[in-house]
Amino acid sequence: MTKPRVLITRRWPEAVERAMAARFEVTLNEADRPMTSADFRAAFATFDAVCPTVTDKLGPEAFDLAQGRTKVLGNFGVGFSHIDLDGAKRHGMAVTNTPDVLSDCTADIAMTLMLMAARRAGEGERELRAGGWTGWRPTHMIGTKVSGATLGIIGFGRIGQAMARRAHHGFGMKILVQNRSPVAADVLARYGARQVATVEDLLPACDFVSLHCPGGAANRHLINADRLALMRGDAFLINTARGEVVDEAALADALAARRIGGAGLDVFEREPQVTAALMDCPNLVMLPHLGSATRATREAMGFRVMENISAFFDGKAPPDRVA
Ligand code: DGY
Repeated sequence: MTKPRVLITRRWPEAVERAMAARFEVTLNEADRPMTSADFRAAFATFDAVCPTVTDKLGPEAFDLAQGRTKVLGNFGVGFSHIDLDGAKRHGMAVTNTPDVLSDCTADIAMTLMLMAARRAGEGERELRAGGWTGWRPTHMIGTKVSGATLGIIGFGRIGQAMARRAHHGFGMKILVQNRSPVAADVLARYGARQVATVEDLLPACDFVSLHCPGGAANRHLINADRLALMRGDAFLINTARGEVVDEAALADALAARRIGGAGLDVFEREPQVTAALMDCPNLVMLPHLGSATRATREAMGFRVMENISAFFDGKAPPDRVA
């Protein structure tokens, strides 16, 4: 029996590439460079499955072809706002993602950013490496206490809940939640959390706000200048969700004017570009989209893609079908 032809658009952990190559007729992007829309149109005409990642901009132009061969897009990642689902559906392509397996590591990075921003870890390390540290003193680099503070979580899916678990049970934080739909009382109780109706209700009540909602058009600039103005003057904003959720220019203004205490970002509006004004904000910690970047998680993500597209080609329902 001939094996389905599968394109993997970026390099994956070796163990997964090997397993994929044993199961499918696999083509790798050896150069590991992001593909263009034209590359995708060509790929859709050639492969039975294409396995993209967040760096692949699969907008409407990528689906602008008469007839494709591709039947399934096995996305390596939980977020899929980079894929034009209407375009995929028009060509009869199923789309799958990789939930669950990256929740812990993404929440770990959100905690890292929260602690780093609050305790000025980036600033401190920069000072030390630059040879500017003159020694301990009671007033040196005073930060903000995290333990016992109030954390607002916007988006209470798997990653939001993993964040709440760490913050509440590890750091004794009080948890407020804003979510599109009502969260079950027993789920809130697990984290001692209280749900509020709107983002406007949540922001003024929090010392820290962490974003865990999906990206895409619906949540573009969910955090804008007006909403940043609702945050406390000493509060911190953490974003490990999607870059487009925060208006970066408005955030840079708020940070520069010290209208909020600080921020931590793992994702950006125009990755890998970073709004220039953010570079000048000392009260900001930035990481290059590392949320899921551990070996265990990246392997688990790859195997989850394999499970999804294997199910698809075996005529079964892929476990993580999103379209
Ligand atoms: C995701 O899974 O959406 C991460 O942001 C990148 O893979």
